[in-house]
Amino acid sequence: MDSSTIQLVQHSWQKVAAIGPQAAALFYSNLFDTDPTLKPLFKGDLQAQGKKLIDMIGVAVNKLTELDVLVPVLQNLGKRHAGYGVQDAHYDTVGAALLKTLGQGLGQDFTAEVKEAWVNVYGVMAEVMKTAAKH
Ligand code: HEM
Repeated sequence: MDSSTIQLVQHSWQKVAAIGPQAAALFYSNLFDTDPTLKPLFKGDLQAQGKKLIDMIGVAVNKLTELDVLVPVLQNLGKRHAGYGVQDAHYDTVGAALLKTLGQGLGQDFTAEVKEAWVNVYGVMAEVMKTAAKH
């Protein structure tokens, strides 16, 4: 993960985090449009869950330069996700819903470069979580 990828992701996230609750609502709407069968996995209040999701992405985005801190956090998150019934394939669906949400939130600022940076960062996060879920 190079420094320009990190910068693009950190900078673009500021704009999305500023509309956190709306971004979270958009994200779940995108996610359940793509795969309604994921709905029953979410048992709690979606608004509260959306805040946790946005906060966690914010933590991850801010810690991209401190992977020694971030990786164990993501490993624990990945293990908890196995307990929520999350399977490997779901990470692709969630990744696509997240990218769509970023596009909606960022508008013209969602350039090809920004998109590629997010594909890269989400891919690393998902990989760490999936691997940890198996151990
Ligand atoms: C980078 C990827 C992801 C991040 C940052 C993330 C973040 C979070 C966070 C912070 C929580 C709150 C609970 C906790 O901390 O353990 C959570 C819960 C949850 N996540 Fe994720 N998640 C990710 C991927 C996924 C995927 C791929 C799915 C599959 C559908 C998923 C489904 C869920 C479910 C079902 C819950 C529990 C909700 C409930 O109990 O109502 N997440 N997630």
